[in-house]
Amino acid sequence: MEVIVKEDYDQLSRLAAEEIADVIKRKPQAVIGLATGSTPLGTYKELIRLCREKRLDFGRVVTFNLDEYVGLPPTHDQSYRYFMNENLFNHINIRKENTHVPDGLADDLAAGCRDYEEQIRKSGGIDLQLLGIGGNGHIAFNEPGSSLGSRTRVKTLTEKTRKDNARFFKSMDEVPQYAVTMGIGTIMEARRIVLLASGASKADALAAAVEGPVTAMCPASILQMHPAAIVVADKAAAAKLKGAYPFEPQRVPPKK
Ligand code: F6R
Repeated sequence: MEVIVKEDYDQLSRLAAEEIADVIKRKPQAVIGLATGSTPLGTYKELIRLCREKRLDFGRVVTFNLDEYVGLPPTHDQSYRYFMNENLFNHINIRKENTHVPDGLADDLAAGCRDYEEQIRKSGGIDLQLLGIGGNGHIAFNEPGSSLGSRTRVKTLTEKTRKDNARFFKSMDEVPQYAVTMGIGTIMEARRIVLLASGASKADALAAAVEGPVTAMCPASILQMHPAAIVVADKAAAAKLKGAYPFEPQRVPPKK
């Protein structure tokens, strides 16, 4: 796992957008896995800018989001489908039918989860998966204790995650108790993974993920086993890391 420490959130966001843009430029029909939450907002702003300036074309790009709350319709302003439309999809030239967010309203949620896996498989698999990290080390809604080989399924949200996310709802009672989430095994099949961590509230989780043991109690630690995972942190999130980490990815020079 490659760890890059950037000065601040803006620089972190620019690097994350560059990583995504790089994959799309090399493969215009790339399959990109996306996250919601506060952390990727700067990355999405940068991607929108690149698209508006005609430096990036989403015309053939396919996306799969990590997760969705159970019970929230796409029109609910806290649903992840709504978030993605508002913060990215409505502002770039992506075809909406090429964007996928798990269905949190399916009558048969288990069948919906199996279908999501099948759609990812049929699309050829995820070329790059963007991730945030929870204050408890979760990735997507794979809370501590989640099986490291898990697939897309319904998860019960922990009280910590519900409290962390309560800031977006009118009251704690409105925060859903369940979510559909890609599994850790699903995420690990992505060809490249970019995990973003910003702010002091992520410092403990990031240190556990990067320098602690690989354990289901810190789901993000599984990324240590991925052959092409990169962690991009700002200084505040990296404050508890003990190793020395570079500011730029170590790009392998092209063969002459
Ligand atoms: C979002 C997701 C979550 C968040 C994590 C961090 O799709 O899967 O794992 O990435 O909770 O959230 P923020 O960025 O709001 O701190």
